Amino acid sequence: MANEKYTATENYQRLLDNNKKFVAERLSEDPTYFDKLALGQSPDFLWIGCSDSRVPANEITGTESGEIFVHRNVANLVDITDMNMLSVLHYSVDVLKVRHIIVCGHYGCGGVLAAMGNSHIGVVNHWISAIKDVYSLNRKELDAITDEHERGRRLVELNVISQVKNLAKIPHVQRAWKERELRIHGWVYGLSDGILHDLDVMHDGMEDIDPIYRFDNL
Ligand code: CO
Repeated sequence: MANEKYTATENYQRLLDNNKKFVAERLSEDPTYFDKLALGQSPDFLWIGCSDSRVPANEITGTESGEIFVHRNVANLVDITDMNMLSVLHYSVDVLKVRHIIVCGHYGCGGVLAAMGNSHIGVVNHWISAIKDVYSLNRKELDAITDEHERGRRLVELNVISQVKNLAKIPHVQRAWKERELRIHGWVYGLSDGILHDLDVMHDGMEDIDPIYRFDNL
């Protein structure tokens, strides 16, 4: 958002100025705040969310630095060949031992809406083609929703559910389930009201997934 104090070309300066205020505020509350953070992290949560600038993980969940390990991409996808996502997943599950993985989509997601359409924008179409697969798999339910806005909202939800299922297919997740508790949640954030909706699709064990995806020798 624009700020009258800064010209458009100096707008970035606001971020650096804000940082000085952030440091001063934190230190006034706790002089050891950064010393403690520098010692290490042990977050309970891995967040897989959309890159959309309106869905900042910490801000909307009232959490602080050190509480959520974050991975964001266009339309919060879990592509099991994505080395970036797999590296984040491996580190957070196997090393940091997070207890919960939250896949968080959001209503009005541009990536999801683009996947509903037939325009070729560029390379992003390759990325969001997985959402067309979600649509195709749920075509009967989605095509029955005559209101396009409502259909888009349902596809956002179905996309989150699909990504929760994708996570459960990954051997790292299944191996963790053999050793400890790890819960995968599917949430959707409302841009227009700020509310997080739990879709109640929690996966926390092998029994939650289709047997064809289960590995029995981990
Ligand atoms: Co989005």
